[in-house]
Amino acid sequence: MSSLTPVALACEYLEHPLAIERPDPRLSWRSDSAARGARQTAYRVVVAKTGADLLAGRSLLWDSGRIESDASAHIHYAGTPLASFQRAAWRVQVWDETGVASPWSAVAGWAMGILKREEWRGQWIHSPAQVSSNSPYFRRSFSLDKPVTDARLYATARGIFLAWINGRPVSDEQFAPGWTDYAKRLLYRCHDVTALVNDSGAAGERVLSAQINDGWYKGPVGWEGKAHIWGGRCELLMLLRLEHADGTVTWIVSDDQWRTANSPVLSSTFLKGELYDGGAEPIGWDRAGFDAKGWHKVNATAIGDAPILQAHQGPPVRRLSEVKPVARWQARPGSWIFDLGENIAGRVRIRLRAPAGTTIRLRHGEMVTPDRQLYVDNLRTATSIDVFTAAGTGEEIWEPRFTFHGFQYVEVAGWPGEPPLDAITGIVLGSDCPAAGSFTCSDPMIDKLYGNIVRTQRANYLEVPTDCPQRDERLGWTGDAQAYIRTAICSRDIAAFFTKWLQDLRDAQNADGTFPNIAPQVPGLGGVWGLERGDAAWADAGTICPLTMWRCYADKDILAAMFPAMVKWVEYCDRTAIEGINIRYHRDKQFIVFGDWLQVDCWTPPEVIMTAFYAHGAKLVAEAAEVLGKQAEATRFRELHEKVKKAFQREFVKADGTILGKRTDDETQTIYLLALHFDLVPAALRAAAVEKLVACIAARDWHLSTGFVGLPYLLPVLSANGRTDVAYRLLNTTTYPSWLYPITQGATTIWERWNGWKKEEGPADPGMNSYSHYAYGACGEWLFSDVAGIDLLEPGFKRMRIRPRIGGGLTRAEATHRCIHGEIRSSWTHAQGALTLVVTVPPNTSAEIWIPTSDTASLREAGKPWPTPARHEPGYAVIETGAGTYVFTAAFSTTAATTSAKSASAK
Ligand code: BGC
Repeated sequence: MSSLTPVALACEYLEHPLAIERPDPRLSWRSDSAARGARQTAYRVVVAKTGADLLAGRSLLWDSGRIESDASAHIHYAGTPLASFQRAAWRVQVWDETGVASPWSAVAGWAMGILKREEWRGQWIHSPAQVSSNSPYFRRSFSLDKPVTDARLYATARGIFLAWINGRPVSDEQFAPGWTDYAKRLLYRCHDVTALVNDSGAAGERVLSAQINDGWYKGPVGWEGKAHIWGGRCELLMLLRLEHADGTVTWIVSDDQWRTANSPVLSSTFLKGELYDGGAEPIGWDRAGFDAKGWHKVNATAIGDAPILQAHQGPPVRRLSEVKPVARWQARPGSWIFDLGENIAGRVRIRLRAPAGTTIRLRHGEMVTPDRQLYVDNLRTATSIDVFTAAGTGEEIWEPRFTFHGFQYVEVAGWPGEPPLDAITGIVLGSDCPAAGSFTCSDPMIDKLYGNIVRTQRANYLEVPTDCPQRDERLGWTGDAQAYIRTAICSRDIAAFFTKWLQDLRDAQNADGTFPNIAPQVPGLGGVWGLERGDAAWADAGTICPLTMWRCYADKDILAAMFPAMVKWVEYCDRTAIEGINIRYHRDKQFIVFGDWLQVDCWTPPEVIMTAFYAHGAKLVAEAAEVLGKQAEATRFRELHEKVKKAFQREFVKADGTILGKRTDDETQTIYLLALHFDLVPAALRAAAVEKLVACIAARDWHLSTGFVGLPYLLPVLSANGRTDVAYRLLNTTTYPSWLYPITQGATTIWERWNGWKKEEGPADPGMNSYSHYAYGACGEWLFSDVAGIDLLEPGFKRMRIRPRIGGGLTRAEATHRCIHGEIRSSWTHAQGALTLVVTVPPNTSAEIWIPTSDTASLREAGKPWPTPARHEPGYAVIETGAGTYVFTAAFSTTAATTSAKSASAK
């Protein structure tokens, strides 16, 4: 029997995608196996037009034949060219380390999208001026005279849309088709609606219906309240492709046959909220038999040549979970506050019986004041109020359709009588990135911190990686995205999400090579300087994110797609630098300087940050070039990196290892973190620089002072340089500023500011004070890589290192991470001088496991002595293994662990 069973088949990271546009989609699988050393030595992929053909072995589109290879991800389809709309079914067989073949996997599939512009049919449709709702309804009824075997709906909008067939939603997606720079690119989604089309029998009338809303396209985006950024007219484009048993196809497309009318959504925007009149719902409008004579004819216009129409490559926004209120109190006569117990991005669903015309007002906020009133100052212009007017038809259930808020508390006014606790339910919205990891340890505060990190990520990975979900920003801030991406990967599979966003980032790059501060760009936002040209660390998302994708997902294609843009950006830095020093700040005030944003009582000079990121960018481009086999570029950018590194040392690094900017004597934690993490310190001065970093921390009585830029590197740099003791000390600190301080103040999410809310004093600066901002959660990576000890040594975790760094008073920690090969697990506990470490290494990978013991003789695996370790490191016995689950036990001493934490240097 084979030790491997191929499972989790995916195409372009997605399970059964319906709109693939590249001719050579990448296929991936994982192998299930509990066997030690399980390893793939060969694979065979077979693709056919249908599952039945595949199983019968006929009409094959591709048979890779047996390929001697251990690759199980990103295998390019190389069969018969595929046409638009074509479906493909596939399965895979693998051979294990002993050459035994696995059974065939289950059948998976994908379908091609619309590959050529001329294959689009139909017209853009919009409502005439008589329709006043900003969320109008559209309908088209049609009849069929023969059964449908395959029905797929392709849909996009200038705005956002919902669609139904015979009154049933075509999907559970929210805010489709998502957000892009609409001037350049509009995305579409495809849904298999065969069951919906057929649910009323083989023949007869059906109704395809939709509703569109302003969304990002026409609604207000950003703090200046500007709307109509991409256009002033919402439009819809739909193609329903109905294939019959005889192979013929019927098309129902958006065109002048459609009718439109006001909907009960009187108005709805992301920032202000939704106004809904239940009494205005035209009953039965979305089903057969409805008399639409009073409805208006739509206006229809040609599809035209621009912008690009492209399938959405990322996960949709969905309702991810529901939250029940934990408390409720009367805030004022007639107004009640519900506490959801956690801060979420989403909205609420209400359930009530009320006389017709009863108006319920829902106001959302993240905090309540000491006198238990809703606190909304920090929302700025995002008023976040939903209003529902009852139809009076018995029990009514309502949830807004086209808005979302960032909130924990809801103030409910207008309820007839006293609303019960279950009158409202919190609906969590976010991009549906698959779960990929977990973390827990013996300290409940750190568990809370991890929970807050995960919750904040969920609230801010909503179509694009945003800064916050509540106030009038909710923008794709590039600096936040790059600071946090590595942590994000620990707990969620964000590969498809970032594949889409990196397209947004490429679209947002300026002609001069600069990447912006936000992607998608929002033309005109940001005052005189605008946000088009990004500050260091913001613009550097353009190099850092793709390299992170390469390292964590072994995704070469994303590197190839980003490479020209990465080169342009670093060339820009080079062009504008003077003698290797990037001083755009001083000579070119064409952009806003954020510096080490929200650093605490210090100032990291921008020229140091800029030059450090410039050097780092050159190094990342060289690494990408190397991976892509572009030797000349690899050499060119390696040399550039060396040049900038020398300049950095010449200008900023003093003979004793002190690092200072040009015009200040302020040593900051971030200066040392950037210099050490980006390897800009001469080897001989590294130890001195580490000492100075620790001195900077000690000078603040062992508190951090970094802003968004330096923070992600703080714990990793300390650990990599033998100061895990300081890293744990910072992690365990509960006084301001620290990670745990907000938790002592009741935080259920990561805050934008360490002192966002103090129980005694209330809010910090309400002008900029989000309670759901993931940047400071970038310490999450270290919980995985150092506390539990899971880190990669080769791209895609093909080879990994399990090296728990035990300290900080913890007696137990456990993390799991599902990489492209399967689930990795590291779980340790220690008590009374005995350590247990349980490690799972997924099939088809290998690991270096560092077992924290100084007493190799005591080392056992499943009770038996382990053959000699491959090597010893201070405080560790290091072994090399392949796949499998291993239960190690060994003698363990906390004093030895602390000493070794201090002495072990980066490996
Ligand atoms: C955002 C940030 C962003 C910053 C730029 C803020 O208003 O919320 O997260 O990175 O501006 O410094």
